[in-house]
Amino acid sequence: MAADKPSYYITTPIYYVNAKPHLGTAYCTVMTDVQARFRRACGYDVKFLTGMDEHGEKVAEAAEKNGFDTPQAWCDSMEPAFADLWRALEISNDDFIRTTQPRHIAGVQKFLKVLLDRGYIYKGAYDGWYCRPDETYFTDTQVHHHEEERLAAGEAPADPAHPLCPDCDRPLERIQEESWFFKLSAFQQPLLDFYAAHPDFIQPETRKNEVISFVSGGLKDLSISRSTFDWGVPFPFDEDHVAYVWVDALINYLTALGYGSDDEAEFRRRWPAQAHIVGKDIIRFHCVIWPALLMAADLPLPEKVFAHGFLTVRNEETGKVEKMSKSRGNVIAPEEVMDLLGVGAYRYYFMSDVVHGTDAPISWGRMRQVYNADLANSWGNLVSRALNMSIKYFDGCAPARPGTWDEATPLKDAADGVYGRYAAHMETFDYQGAAADIMQIVSAANLYIENSAPWALAKDPDKAGELELVLWNVLEAIRIANELYAPFMPAISAEVRRRLGLPAEQDAALEELCQWGGLAGGQPVEKGDPLFPRLQD
Ligand code: MSP
Repeated sequence: MAADKPSYYITTPIYYVNAKPHLGTAYCTVMTDVQARFRRACGYDVKFLTGMDEHGEKVAEAAEKNGFDTPQAWCDSMEPAFADLWRALEISNDDFIRTTQPRHIAGVQKFLKVLLDRGYIYKGAYDGWYCRPDETYFTDTQVHHHEEERLAAGEAPADPAHPLCPDCDRPLERIQEESWFFKLSAFQQPLLDFYAAHPDFIQPETRKNEVISFVSGGLKDLSISRSTFDWGVPFPFDEDHVAYVWVDALINYLTALGYGSDDEAEFRRRWPAQAHIVGKDIIRFHCVIWPALLMAADLPLPEKVFAHGFLTVRNEETGKVEKMSKSRGNVIAPEEVMDLLGVGAYRYYFMSDVVHGTDAPISWGRMRQVYNADLANSWGNLVSRALNMSIKYFDGCAPARPGTWDEATPLKDAADGVYGRYAAHMETFDYQGAAADIMQIVSAANLYIENSAPWALAKDPDKAGELELVLWNVLEAIRIANELYAPFMPAISAEVRRRLGLPAEQDAALEELCQWGGLAGGQPVEKGDPLFPRLQD
């Protein structure tokens, strides 16, 4: 723990165990990882949390279907699918929470007791619609409204006994059971007041408007317990009921900090979270239910919920663009993309080419295009040319920092203020903008090489000083661009640092590392294999 550094607590959703992670789920984790790495580089004491959502009827059913003795054994068998992929994708999470861990169960039970003591939950009877695949409840009005929209769009009427889910269009079930309810209805005005007072709470802006209009439409109390199965966290004061999976799952953001344990010091130090990163499908849970639950428990609210869009795929049969999801059978395995691009380029592609907030169609053609243009031709080529020339003209070493290092050059100009521009983009999750900031330096460096033709300078002994200045400028620009690329491509950046002969660990904060003039030079450098071998179209 670094007491002197400010805490930055960032989370991904916890993933359902029933499906192996695919490109879509991995997208969210990589996006969170890039922010976590950026914040660490800026000097924050980061806690990056991800994990698995293991309770609920569907998990119990899947365990049975897959021949496992217990749901727990099924969940355990799924952990490597996540843990291994996160390692392969260079995900730097500091913790991995599972909702079946005792630390989580204790925290959920404490939370439920707090809600009971504060008078925000009560026992009643639930009679309404339930989407089993999404584990989401819907009112008659929501279901009716969705059916009207479908009919207006020319779709066939749904079976009235099983109308379709407003979120995923799969058949709903009518369920009636005794249940505990959370007084969500009491939080309509407090939520609206909160959104107004914290305009940055929900990002991007379009999502905020969607949430505000949903809440303005009125909130109904929420059923938060189930009694027809037992794979969940039992209510401490009513053992026949287990917590509704969403309430159970949301509380993971607290229990990972030790909420409900004997030592709540980390919880006190790090809560509220700085950012929850979620997909747009789960924004109501994070921007309506979660803040209301926290208000009910008298806890502070997270600073920001960032909702990204979906990676989509075109359905060949219907021609419709669909969310990539296991239940639709259209998923691409992350391993396939890693095999094609390598991990660094995989991360770079999804983070720099996909606008975080809107849906993004995935195409192999576009992946190749971005890889070849940005990485093979621009960044990889720049690094390899510069190292080659150093080896050739400076006896295997980087040229020493010349006395005139501080004089204006096109590269010094390009690097001036880049940290500020880049950080502003990163902080608002505009990774595309941040990648473009770096690319400006990279392009300027490639152009500078062309314009100053070091190969010609090397032939003229009178131009030795000029050659030194030019090549030092190029290496200095590479050093800075490489630090800025590190959150996107951690292992690649570490390798570039190594080839440049720079220390693996950097003590200074990113802003300082981006100051022009940091490269002392004179150290041996190494050429190495191409970082991004060109891909055939
Ligand atoms: N278990 C809940 C989250 C509980 S958090 C307290 C859940 N799990 S999930 O596995 O279904 O989805 C996790 C995340 O993956 C969601 O943010 C969802 O938006 C994201 N994605 C799933 N498919 C996706 C795409 N095709 N594209 C981008 N993100 C996608 O919901």
